[in-house]
Parts: sequence; structure tokens; C-alpha cells
Amino acid sequence: MKHVVIYYSQTGNNKQLAHDLQRRLDCDCVEVRETRKRTRFTTLLDILLDRKPGVTWPGCDFSAYSKAVLVAPIWAGRIATPLASFIAREKDNLPDFAFLSLCAGLRGQPCQIAHELMHLTGRTPELVEQLNVNDLLPPERRNKGRHALAYRASARELLMYEGEIEHFLRLLEPARVISGTPSQACWHRPAASALRSPGAPA
Ligand SMILES: Cc1cc2nc3c(=O)[nH]c(=O)nc-3n(C[C@H](O)[C@H](O)[C@H](O)COP(=O)(O)O)c2cc1C
Repeated sequence: MKHVVIYYSQTGNNKQLAHDLQRRLDCDCVEVRETRKRTRFTTLLDILLDRKPGVTWPGCDFSAYSKAVLVAPIWAGRIATPLASFIAREKDNLPDFAFLSLCAGLRGQPCQIAHELMHLTGRTPELVEQLNVNDLLPPERRNKGRHALAYRASARELLMYEGEIEHFLRLLEPARVISGTPSQACWHRPAASALRSPGAPA
């Protein structure tokens, strides 16, 4: 069985990332789109009011895939609301899943996103990782929100994440031969043994 990449992208960064993953995994790629036009105001309201906007995607039986790789921007420390809408609606049909985002790159987000995914689906993601736009910026612009939040990465710049993307895929598919560079910003599902409380029977 093949994997499937499912993505939402407002300004193109995560669309590029999703298609890069599709190529590397040789799998299907499904875009989640919004049913209404997005403005800065609707984004703000979504975030403040925890709204789930209307979304649409090509009809697809996701349960027929081995794993889903979910790809979206991060907004205010959370999964961009259109993909969160999709996940909430399709949670019972999704196979095992992982999440990857090309985002500004604030610290601590993968753990936060892992918890959001658990809340949305009632299941534990296999892997959550972010690629930091911040790393693409010249030193004087790094860690300044206004530069990273609005940055549009080019296809050539995406190549800079080659090692991190291959490492992500290696964790997703242990049989994968290519090795990569461990990311600084990765959350990985603990082994079942680590989830047991100390002293609990094995
Ligand atoms: C309203 C808004 C809030 C954002 N909040 C975050 C954030 O909390 N953390 C982060 O790392 N990036 C944040 N970003 C940056 C986006 O995740 C980043 O620009 C992403 O690459 C955009 O993806 P897209 O081009 O696929 O839409 C935010 C961007 C916007 C527009």
C-alpha cells in the first residue's frame, strides 16, 4: 500500500513541500481547499474563535493508504485552520499519520502540534516535525517575526531542507535506505514501552 500526502497551503510554501514529498514517496497528493475566500480578518477570527472553516477536497478513501503525511502552515502555534477542519472531519478514515510544516519556526511547536492532533483525532501521530523558514534568512533577519512569517521560499531554497526531509521520511519508513540530518525540531511518538507507567506490568 502507498502513502498519501494531504496538504493545505495559503501562500505556496507548504504546497511546494507537499509536492516534494509526493515525488520522494512516489505517492498520491491531495489538496485541501477552502470553500470561501480567506482574508487576514478571517484568519484572525479563526484563530481567536477556534473556528473550523469550510473545506473541500477530491473524494478519496484515505483508509486505503498505508500512512498519511499531513502538511500545512502553522498559525499562532496551531495547525492552519483549514487543515484542522479537514482532520476533524476525516479523522475516522485516516490511516496512521505524521505532520510536517514549513513554517516560521518558533520553538516547542512540534510537541504542541502533536497534542493538537491527539485532541482532533483521539489518536497519537507517528511523527511531527517543522522546517524553519527562519533558517533561510540572513543572520540579521533571523528570529524577527515579521520576516519569517511572510517569507515565500523558492523551489531552490527547499533543497536546503533535503537532509531534514529525508530524515523525516526515514523515521516514517524505517526501511528507507537514504539517511538524513536529524532536525532540531522533531516530535516522535514514544515507543509503547516508554508510555507504560513505571512498575506497570509489561
Ligand atoms: C496569521 C499567521 C500566523 C502564523 N503563525 C505562525 C506560528 O505561530 N508559528 C510559525 O512557525 N509560523 C507561523 N506563521 C508562518 C507560516 O506558518 C509560514 O509563513 C508558512 O510557511 C506559510 O505557509 P503557506 O505558504 O503554505 O501558506 C504564521 C503565518 C500567518 C499568516
